[in-house]
Amino acid sequence: MTAVVLQAQDLARHYRVGRGLLRTAATVKALDGVSFTLQAGRTLAVVGESGCGKSTLARQLTLIEPPTSGALFIDQRDAAQADPRTLKALRQRVQMVFQNPYASLNPRKTIAAALAEPLRINTVLSKAARAERVMQMIERVGLRPEHAARYPHMFSGGQRQRVAVARAMMLQPALVVADEPTSALDVSIQAQILNLFMDLQDSTGTAYVFISHNLAVVEHVAHAVMVMYLGRAVEHGPKAAVLKTPLHPYTRALLAAVPVLKPADRRVHIPLIGETPSPLAPPPGCTFHTRCPLAQARCRTEPPALRDIQGRLVACHFAERTADQTAEPAANHTAEPTVTETVDATAVQR
Ligand SMILES: Nc1ncnc2c1ncn2[C@@H]1O[C@H](COP(=O)(O)OP(=O)(O)OP(=O)(O)O)[C@@H](O)[C@H]1O
Ligand SMILES: [Mg+2]
Repeated sequence: MTAVVLQAQDLARHYRVGRGLLRTAATVKALDGVSFTLQAGRTLAVVGESGCGKSTLARQLTLIEPPTSGALFIDQRDAAQADPRTLKALRQRVQMVFQNPYASLNPRKTIAAALAEPLRINTVLSKAARAERVMQMIERVGLRPEHAARYPHMFSGGQRQRVAVARAMMLQPALVVADEPTSALDVSIQAQILNLFMDLQDSTGTAYVFISHNLAVVEHVAHAVMVMYLGRAVEHGPKAAVLKTPLHPYTRALLAAVPVLKPADRRVHIPLIGETPSPLAPPPGCTFHTRCPLAQARCRTEPPALRDIQGRLVACHFAERTADQTAEPAANHTAEPTVTETVDATAVQR
């Protein structure tokens, strides 16, 4: 059985902020109880609109800040209970790749120095051994030996992201959390970087949490998908279930906005109306009800639990109804062809 690398249990992060002219204290529930398990060699994609808590989740997973509540197990060790030595070891096991590689690389250090640094700090390797590992990694991420002596500003955006990926991989982490790693890149370069991520995963077995607002990217890289809304998962399961037969109206709305990724059943077209409510005052009941065309009285008062329906978890009172509609035979709707679109590597280059 494949090793469980990461386990998040009801992970939450709340921030106290001042609100209004009088700066009255309020709480932002940036992350409000998220649970999942990730195995070696697997990729969980986290999607959702701006402000839904994706980067906050990333900061918890990479131990940049502690959660307000909930538990996090890395390599099956409880991060909250870890002594300083164990915590240092766990920090090496989780690495992060950011959207803007330029901001995460020291402009005064050559690429060779930047890549050698984690080895210098965390291992007892000799200088020669470190240099050898650096050159191997430079080659592995598709850069050339002569790049080693260059500085970050001498690279293109795509090459810099290769350096950032290389740096994240230097200590052979169990998990890499990538927060919008291709969003700042030219579309033509995005697919190359995604392929690099996937090649490295094939050869190293590293698990990824891949944050992206681009569902075509998610379709390309993910094994599982978690859709977040206002700090919570609203739908979470295997990629095929979530992207091909989504059951939450929010997932359906996100997918409806992506031409190549429309769910197999286009009969229920759900436009995404209005803006995300303020996380300072989330709506009562189902937090999506203010934007949901299926909302009923119950949705305004009763928060839906995350339930197992048709091989995924979904938090919608009416998910069974959506599932039944989706299950109707397509033969009754011959006017509309059954859509069995798949997205291949070229789709992300659109
Ligand atoms: N340190 C903080 N103090 C107060 N509020 C915060 C803090 N960090 C995040 N937030 C709030 O928490 C919510 C979630 O923020 P987060 O950055 O996790 O969203 P996101 O999903 O990554 O968005 P984006 O797609 O724009 O990157 C937002 O409302 C944000 O304003
Ligand atoms: Mg973010």
